[in-house]
Amino acid sequence: MVTSRGNHPPISTPDIASEEIGAAKAAIARLENRYLNKLQVNPDLTRSLVSFQSNKSEPIFRWFNYREGFSRPLIEYILEQLDIPENGCILDPFAGTGAAAFVGSQYRKMNSYAIELLPVGVFFMKCRNLFATLSNEELIDFARAAIDKRQEWLAVQPHWQYRHLRITHEAFPEETEKELSQYKTWIAEQEPNFALFLDFVAFSILEKISFTRKDGQYLRWDHRANRFQGSKHKSKFDKGKIWGFFEAVEDKFKQIVCDLETSIDLFSSIPRIEGEAIHILQGSVFQEIEKLSDNSLDCIVTSPPYCNRYDYTRTYALELAYLGVDESGVRTLRQSLLTCTVENKPKQFSDLPNDIQSQGELAFHNQDCLQNAIRFLESESSAGRLNNQGIVTMVKGYFYDSAIHLAQASKKLKHGGYYVMVNDNVRYNGLELPVDLILSDIASEFNLNTESIWVLPRGKGNSSQQMKRHGRAELRKCIYIWKKC
Ligand SMILES: C[S@@+](CC[C@H](N)C(=O)[O-])C[C@H]1O[C@@H](n2cnc3c(N)ncnc32)[C@H](O)[C@@H]1O
Repeated sequence: MVTSRGNHPPISTPDIASEEIGAAKAAIARLENRYLNKLQVNPDLTRSLVSFQSNKSEPIFRWFNYREGFSRPLIEYILEQLDIPENGCILDPFAGTGAAAFVGSQYRKMNSYAIELLPVGVFFMKCRNLFATLSNEELIDFARAAIDKRQEWLAVQPHWQYRHLRITHEAFPEETEKELSQYKTWIAEQEPNFALFLDFVAFSILEKISFTRKDGQYLRWDHRANRFQGSKHKSKFDKGKIWGFFEAVEDKFKQIVCDLETSIDLFSSIPRIEGEAIHILQGSVFQEIEKLSDNSLDCIVTSPPYCNRYDYTRTYALELAYLGVDESGVRTLRQSLLTCTVENKPKQFSDLPNDIQSQGELAFHNQDCLQNAIRFLESESSAGRLNNQGIVTMVKGYFYDSAIHLAQASKKLKHGGYYVMVNDNVRYNGLELPVDLILSDIASEFNLNTESIWVLPRGKGNSSQQMKRHGRAELRKCIYIWKKC
């Protein structure tokens, strides 16, 4: 299945005149040397398997476009390869929309837990928990009934208001926002299951009816948005068709009906269950994971935020505002993310058990390659060569938070249990940070032994800015397999 890393492209960084780069590169080489036989190119892992791409034809998975979401086949592949017991216990500590937990529960009858900070993924999981208790026919009836009832919501005096955040102002055409308000006001009068279904449909089309597109670190704005009226800052971006409210919900209802009617084989293979399909723990992983019993999990399968400045609170701002999160709520959520943006401040973990704090801190400080990379970034920052000073704080915070998380997570796993993580390496100022090796080494401090690091056959290109300044070199995208010993 997998082959040794062999001739996978070596890490190459051009010479930069600083002592620190030399030391950082030497430390990376030492670490690479230690883990060389663990890095294995796995030809089964196509880019589409390890991304949301494979969900494009999956009922439910494709009803809300969470670009960072796992695909169902990937989770099934991982569970099969590692021989994880049916009926075992699985956790995704950075669950997003909960794909790993749902696949565990619905295809393998596992006891599934999902921890997620943002209300966006939590709302999706709550809806999915409900859908799992309803029959295809009930869901189809909901969708058909909704299409027929437009005149009812159009007759309503709207009370509900979309409470905009600063970064969502003027996101929708006026008519669209008015109909959304009427629809939401009307929903409040409906029977609870039907209402949640309707709510889910509006939630899932917000990007489509807006002047924005999700774009990694922020929302991109179409030039037609009112936001630019009379402003010197014009956008050149054209996102193409901007859907009206009714045509977008109607299209979503039709997609749902079509999935339920035509993909009957796929869909009926999802066992209907009583009660909740998965246990959802809403909040930050650092607090929520403490609620689970020690030595209780057979596996953890997850993809945490990457160390790449991606800000979930900005890209999902439309959905957060829809769910009622205000400006200060967004700020709190941003600071609670596992550090991954340049705005994150260092976290204090004073509420966690002392041994977790001290072990996490030690593992962070003892990781030689990481400390050398930090020294290099600090020197670049002092020389004014880093395009954002927050990058140093982010890199430190990312690995510090991760060390704390791994100290906690390891305690929750049974002996012989697996921790499987999907993550990407990153590059700053020409230095590729081997996130895979650094985290594997930190994990080893907590009895998580690296069995292998599956490397995707083709890594990820770097940003155009990086490419111009530092040349093209592939970044490794990997799945780490750690086993608790
Ligand atoms: C790469 S996404 C995971 C997507 C997921 N695999 C799926 O299938 O939808 C990372 C997730 O981690 C969540 N997250 C970030 N910091 C967190 C924290 N401190 N506690 C819990 N979840 C967090 C983000 O909100 C995001 O949904």
